[in-house]
Amino acid sequence: MVEGTLGQLAYRGYSIEDLAIRSSFLETAYLLIWGDLPNAEALGTFSEEVKSHRRIKFRIRDMMKCFPESGHPMDALQASAAALGLFYSRRALDDPTYIRAAAIRLLAKIPTMVAAFQLIRKGHDPIQPRDDLSYAANFLYMLTEQEPDPLAARIFDACLILHAEHSLNASTFSALVTASTLTDPYAVVASAVGTLAGPLHGGANEDVLDMLDTIGSVENVGPYLDRCMAEKKRIMGFGHRVYKVKDPRAAILQSLAEQLFDRFGSDASYDLARVVEEQAADRFGARGIYPNVDFYSGLVYRKLGIPQDLFTPIFAIARVAGWLAHWKEQLGANRIFRPSQVYVGHRLRPWQPIEARP
Ligand code: SDX
Repeated sequence: MVEGTLGQLAYRGYSIEDLAIRSSFLETAYLLIWGDLPNAEALGTFSEEVKSHRRIKFRIRDMMKCFPESGHPMDALQASAAALGLFYSRRALDDPTYIRAAAIRLLAKIPTMVAAFQLIRKGHDPIQPRDDLSYAANFLYMLTEQEPDPLAARIFDACLILHAEHSLNASTFSALVTASTLTDPYAVVASAVGTLAGPLHGGANEDVLDMLDTIGSVENVGPYLDRCMAEKKRIMGFGHRVYKVKDPRAAILQSLAEQLFDRFGSDASYDLARVVEEQAADRFGARGIYPNVDFYSGLVYRKLGIPQDLFTPIFAIARVAGWLAHWKEQLGANRIFRPSQVYVGHRLRPWQPIEARP
């Protein structure tokens, strides 16, 4: 539930604040996909099943080794997600066991594929998941080749919760349209990944840091914002189709960032971001343009040592939970999407031979 004028977000009735503080990403994914918080036994079984599916086929790793190192990790993820369909080609969309297995595979393997491409493009061999680590800790371990600090893992897990679901955003809409044709869930996720990659959607979190680097200092904030206004240039990490106040996720990400800075040292860009938020409110607040989820997320990820072009793949890792929830729901009462359109083009007209054309 997204309440844009009040800045409220809830998953299946549980507030994003409660989930970010009290839940884990896997527990939240279970809630989204199956509709209720799992009891201890169900969560334990679900977690173990996800752990047992974290590894990826060696042929997918070999395929990634053919990708150009300079390619964007979102393109590598989209190709790898689609490739899963080659290995799990059986389709039984009316079988709850198949639905559960596919959901577990995607939740388990997407992080491994993101981390694998990171190591491969650095010239390293991907490392195997560690079953003794939590979902978030294991991803950071596979990405950085070292076991993460518990606080870093906990904060990363909260970031995944914050990005897991957001009603009918562009990438979820893509997932639904693709799902409605009854194709396989791997194609559904690949379709959604491609949509999330755009800078107006999931890709903004990368651009925010570039924007802060361009601004460079507090003195430049005002002139930069005035230029954006004059040139009608978008401020990355600001604005939202639904939220007309500050995105509640941005506020939570700020508190997570502050915890990291207290522990691991401050980041001047964060102080600059706060000034941008303050001065942008004077200029854009009346039009309902406030920070969205992408404005502070990049600062958290950079403090966690995550490369900038992996920010959006991390958004995808989390949003797989939401895409799967909508996929499962769509299958429950499916009809193929076929929007009607208002045609405003030419009416019927006689053929024009090429020699008669201007
Ligand atoms: C996400 O939908 C979701 O739920 C998405 C998301 C999710 O969890 O899935 O919340 C995640 O995608 C966050 C958004 C990340 N993108 C950015 O931060 C890029 C910058 N933001 C904008 O591009 C924009 O705000 C959008 C795309 C997010 C929303 O665009 P809308 O709702 O279509 O707004 P609009 O383009 O119709 O703009 C309305 C007006 C325009 O001015 P006018 O033409 O009416 O004069 O507001 C202005 C826009 O120019 N505007 C901005 C602005 N965003 C809107 N002006 C300056 N900076 C901005 N960021």
